[in-house]
Amino acid sequence: MSNSNQKELLWQSRFSQPFDQEALKFSSSVHVDGLLYREDIQGSIAHATMLAEEGIISTEEAGQIVDGLNAVEKELESGALVPVWEDEDIHTVIENRLKELIGAAAGKLHSGRSRNDQVATDTRLYLRRNIDRLTGLIGQMQSTLLDKAERYGTTIMFGYTHLQRAQPMSAGHYYMAWHSMFGRDAGRLADLRKRANISPLGAAAFAGSTLPLNTARSAELLGFDGVFSNSIDAVSDRDLVIEFISSCATIMMHLSRFSEDVILWSSAEFNYLGISDAFATGSSIMPQKKNADIAELVRGKTGRVYGNLMNILTIMKGLPLSYNRDMQEDKPPLFDTAETTAQSLSIFRRMIENTWLNEERLATLTADDLSLATEIAEYLVKKHIPFRDAHRITGKIVAYAIENGKSLPSISLDEYRTFSDAFDEGIYDDLKPDASVNSKKTAGSCSFRSVKEQIEKARSSK
Ligand code: ARG
Repeated sequence: MSNSNQKELLWQSRFSQPFDQEALKFSSSVHVDGLLYREDIQGSIAHATMLAEEGIISTEEAGQIVDGLNAVEKELESGALVPVWEDEDIHTVIENRLKELIGAAAGKLHSGRSRNDQVATDTRLYLRRNIDRLTGLIGQMQSTLLDKAERYGTTIMFGYTHLQRAQPMSAGHYYMAWHSMFGRDAGRLADLRKRANISPLGAAAFAGSTLPLNTARSAELLGFDGVFSNSIDAVSDRDLVIEFISSCATIMMHLSRFSEDVILWSSAEFNYLGISDAFATGSSIMPQKKNADIAELVRGKTGRVYGNLMNILTIMKGLPLSYNRDMQEDKPPLFDTAETTAQSLSIFRRMIENTWLNEERLATLTADDLSLATEIAEYLVKKHIPFRDAHRITGKIVAYAIENGKSLPSISLDEYRTFSDAFDEGIYDDLKPDASVNSKKTAGSCSFRSVKEQIEKARSSK
């Protein structure tokens, strides 16, 4: 490739030959880190402001730089300035354009700053913005779940273990389980935000600077809660990227499990859940089909985020301190994770909002199901029979019911008494699904009252 019209790279002066064009194209990150332009400009404005306050550059120069950077931001926003790969990365795109706009003063912006602390700063600002974005989306998801839990608080459905009908429960309890899980996801992000919101600016290449930089001031200008304590760590750390992707992987895992229930429950076999036409797709060949594609895609996209986690862990494994160019490769998995997780949370929530439970079918199915068997065992325990014996007796009753094609409530008292003389008429009160659900006494259980309490507690802690 020809090198004749090549722009001078930031570091070119020490070399006698121009950088090979294919090598430059290969190493350029403009197509990816272009997404960071706002953060980059925000960081540069803070740095220039601090430089002027400390007398490292003049107030006039800082003014020119800040105005110039604001103009570059507008150009990038409007598309008037299109980053080209020949500029190596977004930091260089911005610096080169600034130079065209304001001339010599642009060269002073980088006093006491390396692209290493610059990119670390941009990344932290990006993380902070995306942590806040995801936290907002999780909050919306939780309020949709609260609405669902309220709507279906007294609807009875099966709870499952091993995907086998286990015990009846309030359907609201199911929605509140997701509410708890997403609450932990938000908690993880809040915890990560504390670590992310520390400024690496002023670490320079890795060693710090001979210039009297006021790192606390640039941190303050950027809204960071503190400043790095070790300049090597400040430029080398990608733990935050790993933690962010890992937190997103857990969010996606939750969404994927939730998706699985939506897909199963909306099938003809279960027929528990209806999905609005606006969130389902058809088949190009089978006219009767109505598919839960949104849930399937969310489940599928979980794989991308897990892949991104493996990607960043592998990039960082074995890297010597401090900065290495490998670390530029953190951006594709980071950006893809933030986008995929945000989009998945948003569309999944809207889909859930547009689903309904088939209450009639659930009522019919739960009315006389074997999943009431635990009630029989607990009934016997209340009659002072040791639980292990009660379990054994109940197991025999279940086998008898299956063998004779009977439901548990349709077995007569005489028949019950052949299994244990502890049985009396009272057993039939316990063999009603709502009695079963509402006899749960423990806190956080599946009873109507407990679900109501869970909802009230969640609403009041907002
Ligand atoms: N584009 C680079 C990155 O994202 C900027 C840092 C370059 N530093 C260096 N020493 N080559 O990591």
